[in-house]
Amino acid sequence: MSADKAALRTLTALLEQRTGQQIGPNRVWRVETVLKSLMKERGIADLRALAEAVESRRDPGLAGDVVEALLNNETFFFRDAQMFDQLRTTVLEQFRERRATSRRLSIWCAGCSTGQEAYSLAMIFADNPVRWNGWTIDITATDVSDAALAKAKSGFYTQFEIQRGLPVTSMLRWFDQVGPDWRVKRELSRYLRFRRHNLLMAQTGRFDLILCRNVLLYFSPDRRREAFDRLADSLAPDGLLMLGAGETVIGQTDAFISAPDARGLYARSPAKARRVA
Ligand SMILES: C[S@@+](CC[C@H](N)C(=O)[O-])C[C@H]1O[C@@H](n2cnc3c(N)ncnc32)[C@H](O)[C@@H]1O
Repeated sequence: MSADKAALRTLTALLEQRTGQQIGPNRVWRVETVLKSLMKERGIADLRALAEAVESRRDPGLAGDVVEALLNNETFFFRDAQMFDQLRTTVLEQFRERRATSRRLSIWCAGCSTGQEAYSLAMIFADNPVRWNGWTIDITATDVSDAALAKAKSGFYTQFEIQRGLPVTSMLRWFDQVGPDWRVKRELSRYLRFRRHNLLMAQTGRFDLILCRNVLLYFSPDRRREAFDRLADSLAPDGLLMLGAGETVIGQTDAFISAPDARGLYARSPAKARRVA
């Protein structure tokens, strides 16, 4: 194996070991590009020198910074708009009926990146204050990336980011302009709690709805199966899992089955529900 290939292998193995994310041959070109500024900042000449520095553990923060740089944080508001429409018009309405006594809904955005997905979800509730009056809505949003979480918590978005997927009326309603950027209003951020969580680890808590979108598709099949098991353990017996528009559980896990009448949403499989209920 050439030294360059060995270096690539060291760096991509580090990412996989810490986050489960695999970088396939068709995306490996990305590695050098996304690590360029980190190498420049630290005066590291090339990937080989970077891999050696990581392995030597001279700089304790380096491995974590490499992982941060390699994570794919692509996201935008109301990504896959029909899925959010379905949540608003059908799925959350069903939960409103089923949770009419407790008037409490607990939602987990797993792999929330820089927060747009979680804020989009919060807007569904905040836009309908009369409908959700008297309800306790808790949205827990987590990610393995500290940098993504810091941005999510800050609620600051550039003009480019705020325009991606967000209707102008929602932008003006839920964000304040601060210089060239936009900052989320307290009336929206109050629905959310951001915290660090790695999907390779168990999560404590029971959620009615889990969004885990565009995260597990880069896991190896075994890691993905384990992650699905943990997600099922974190879901209420009648809870639902929502994946990205291009993702499915079919052929990936026996912990979930397609939810009747809801495209792209999944319920715990009866066997799993019995085991952990
Ligand atoms: C492509 S973004 C998707 C963001 C959002 N869910 C969406 O669909 O727009 C994937 C996110 O998953 C996070 N991620 C990757 N591996 C993870 C892991 N093991 N645990 C938690 N988050 C992870 C990344 O940091 C990144 O922010």
